[in-house]
Amino acid sequence: MKSKKTLVKKVKKVAGKSAIYKSKASGKKTAPTSAKKSSMKKGSVKKSSVKKVTAKKSTTKKNTAKKGSTNQAIGKKASVIKGVPEGLTLAKVAKWVEPRISKKRFAHVQGVVAVGQELSRLYGLNQAERFYVGLACWLHDSCKEMKDYELVEKARDLGIELTEIEKSSGHLLHGPVAARLVKKELKISNKAVLAAMAQHTLGATNMTEIAKIVYLADCLEASRPDDFTQPIWAALTSGRGRAQAVKGSIDVDKAMLVACDLSLEHLLKSRRPIHPLTVDVRNHFLGIVRAAEKLAG
Ligand SMILES: [Fe+2]
Ligand SMILES: [Fe+2]
Repeated sequence: MKSKKTLVKKVKKVAGKSAIYKSKASGKKTAPTSAKKSSMKKGSVKKSSVKKVTAKKSTTKKNTAKKGSTNQAIGKKASVIKGVPEGLTLAKVAKWVEPRISKKRFAHVQGVVAVGQELSRLYGLNQAERFYVGLACWLHDSCKEMKDYELVEKARDLGIELTEIEKSSGHLLHGPVAARLVKKELKISNKAVLAAMAQHTLGATNMTEIAKIVYLADCLEASRPDDFTQPIWAALTSGRGRAQAVKGSIDVDKAMLVACDLSLEHLLKSRRPIHPLTVDVRNHFLGIVRAAEKLAG
């Protein structure tokens, strides 16, 4: 008989692909658009699928918590934090972002960072992973205010392959372009951080838990409308709601599915174009959630 783990792996492999696209980020209470999924077990978190980029335990014994926002703080050896320059702090990153976007959007970014921290804690990410979430949250919308044509041009310059819908809706590229830009300018090469940034708009079918948390934090930021955020919180917390969320038992995959469904609904109602990846990502997470429900009986 196949073990649960084997079955889960198999289902994940077979499950469709999915993704959606989020709408405008800051300011108005607009419903974002997208979804990602991939955990299992009865409403609990599948920590094993988190990309392990952890610091050695010994390096976190002394006063690292106080300096949790710095690369060096996570481990004495900078090499522990792969792909992030030594000494790069979240405060420095925030200062890099601030002049690139409006005050309104910067407030949105700060809100995403706050929710990202909350989800990281609830999920049970380790210190290094929380740092990655922090970096991606601070940086995710750093190119959001570039014009559509500028994003298309920049993407071409950077060698990003463009689909037709991306050529006509350049704003969809603000995540991938930002990821390339921070790699070049801030020398961040950590794959988890860059992928989370690039995937925060459309999602992907190969998202790490870090990327899902960044995606969901963007959906749950305070300016989003309640009729969008509440169903996602309900999915995350198995109906308990945000205030009663239990550490270690949030279901990011189910939340991704709900976020995808709501985003698709919003896109259809507003007669906006839907990126094919949006549908793939939604189907991907639907497959994962269904498989988890089947396993749970
Ligand atoms: Fe955003
Ligand atoms: Fe964005």
